[in-house]
Amino acid sequence: MAPDEIVQFAQGAEILLASATEQVNAGVLQRLAPALRYVATLSVGYDHIDLEAARALGIGVLHTPDVLSDACAEVALMLMLNASRRGYEADRMVRTGNWPGWAPTQLLGIGLKGKRVLVFGMGRIGREIATRARAFGMDIHYHNRRRLPPEQAAGATYHANLDEALRIADVLVIAVPGSPDLKGVINAERLARLPAHAVLVNISRGDLLVDDALIEALSSGRLFAAGLDVFANEPHVDPRYRELDNVFLSPHIGSATRETRDAMGRLLIDGLDTLYQGGTPANLLDPR
Ligand code: DGY
Repeated sequence: MAPDEIVQFAQGAEILLASATEQVNAGVLQRLAPALRYVATLSVGYDHIDLEAARALGIGVLHTPDVLSDACAEVALMLMLNASRRGYEADRMVRTGNWPGWAPTQLLGIGLKGKRVLVFGMGRIGREIATRARAFGMDIHYHNRRRLPPEQAAGATYHANLDEALRIADVLVIAVPGSPDLKGVINAERLARLPAHAVLVNISRGDLLVDDALIEALSSGRLFAAGLDVFANEPHVDPRYRELDNVFLSPHIGSATRETRDAMGRLLIDGLDTLYQGGTPANLLDPR
């Protein structure tokens, strides 16, 4: 829903149940206050909600951490495998009846075992990605605001500096929470730091990447491939991606399993119950 529609439908409501596709900006919150007490978003990300405005208006914001980490990590691995093993081209070859038969140099991809994966954003989802990448025999590196305690890092190598970390990344996985401050963080200059033929995966938010720069790096073959589950301006995907064989695309399905979606809904309902009983649920952002 567009902001005006949200205001129209939610007029007088105490709780606004939204998702990452709704822009709950300051104007929306101001127009729904003072009746509105809580915004509950069916997402772990909250870059679509103006938290400062919510705080100023005394509106609490609930989100859905933890319960979707496994599902999102699975999609990150799905993208990583499909990008490195040319899943889109392979599927198309069979589906369109254009498979000439097995051949020794057909659809050669890149093996993951022994490769260095850089997880950009080693939060709950990033750590689940690392666990799975470790099972594939990958060497785990991460860039985060803070170094993790050893039990969370589980042997992964910390890089305080993103620009330096990119130089060693055979595979870059973007798992950092979306935020206006990080818009365009993976730009042409940073992509150029990746080793030649690196693979890039994004399960976070599309606007963290500069599309022009990524499309150029994929078209020129400088990057081997990319796997993208998120896009700037969803659902209006930059049409140039559709023309590229070396990009595997999925429509923002990171958390889209039955189990996870149910768990996300329940977490919000339980959180609201706790609030109405005077408690403070763990999924309340920035408790007042
Ligand atoms: C999230 O939970 O933030 C996912 O991106 C779905 O919106």
